[in-house]
Amino acid sequence: MLHDPNRVYVFDTTLRDGEQVPGCQLTTPEKIEIARELEALGVDIIEAGFPISSPGDFQSVVEISKAVKEPTVCALTRANKGDIDSAIAALQYAKHPRIHTGIGSSDMHIKHKFNSTREEILERAVEAVKYAKRAVEDIEFYAEDAGRADIHFLAKMVESVIAAGATVVNIPDTNGYCLPDQYGSKIRFLKENVKNIDKAIISVHCHNDLGLATANSIAGLQNGARQVEGTINGIGERAGNTSIEEVVMILKTHHSLGLHTNIKSPMIYEISRMVSSMMRMPVQPNKAIVGGNAFAHSSGIHQDGFLKNRENYEIIRPEDVGFPSATIVLTARSGRHALKFHLERLGYKLDKDELAEVYQRFLVLADHKLDINDEDLHGLMINQPVKQ
Ligand code: KIV
Ligand code: ZN
Repeated sequence: MLHDPNRVYVFDTTLRDGEQVPGCQLTTPEKIEIARELEALGVDIIEAGFPISSPGDFQSVVEISKAVKEPTVCALTRANKGDIDSAIAALQYAKHPRIHTGIGSSDMHIKHKFNSTREEILERAVEAVKYAKRAVEDIEFYAEDAGRADIHFLAKMVESVIAAGATVVNIPDTNGYCLPDQYGSKIRFLKENVKNIDKAIISVHCHNDLGLATANSIAGLQNGARQVEGTINGIGERAGNTSIEEVVMILKTHHSLGLHTNIKSPMIYEISRMVSSMMRMPVQPNKAIVGGNAFAHSSGIHQDGFLKNRENYEIIRPEDVGFPSATIVLTARSGRHALKFHLERLGYKLDKDELAEVYQRFLVLADHKLDINDEDLHGLMINQPVKQ
């Protein structure tokens, strides 16, 4: 149970929700490699797979359970005995096993996915938790589509599954539907109205259909959740899941939130690249924290400010996330200050008039060539036409 009230537990589902992305399937050895890297990163819980879904996924959960020691290893199930039995078997070697079981909680899912009633669904939820609890102590319950569920029914479901033995209650915004204040209020309501809520940790699991997954996760944490679920690079179904690296760096940057994780942030860039290449999922250049341009300064105004004091345009230091370094990109929008910086780096010392003259030739070149490299700069300095 929780000791430090400000500690946020990080639940990584790159290998389950992330791996559901078409074309991103991994082999068991690849999953083990990623799981080991997640362990080194300091993730608290690794969702290793959905064992009933395929023999390969079952085996991955078995092997990951053997491969990692520190993190809890979690297996997903639906709320039925067959799924739960399979998860129990797959987790047999886990040092810290967790079963993640659950069922739909919105009327949409209850009627149109399960063709059922609230009463029946509640019964199935409680039964599943009790059944899983016979074999595994740590049970996380997910109330699927909680983002669209009636809050009073959701509160009743959460209270019932905690009474049945759930240690963590996951409130997923499965469809990425909520606004941050709506999602935050949902978590607050549960925190204030579920009478046994102090016996479980509330977990946030948000999808990014409206681009709000990270904002919603933070709103949930601000309102009392203490576990956050997400993936590396935000990969996942449709528009993806909450990006773990974004949540971690938001908590690190905004001390006023008073929350912290166990993540070793300088390892973030390395694991981001590893997941991207193994899953064949390029990271978009402007992706927060890990995108190729996340620390690249290209306009003259920004470059000048950055070179005077990097904190003018840098709220996170690249080294804090393991990013190689900030870059000053030379384009036709760059100013003299950036050109001088790069020429000095290459050993050229210029006075003001010389710089002004080279800058004019630089602009002519940059208007035609998108990427000005060191070779181009040497070319400019020996005053010869540059090969393009
Ligand atoms: O998005 C979701 O609701 C899920 C659950 C299975 C936890 O991924
Ligand atoms: Zn999900």
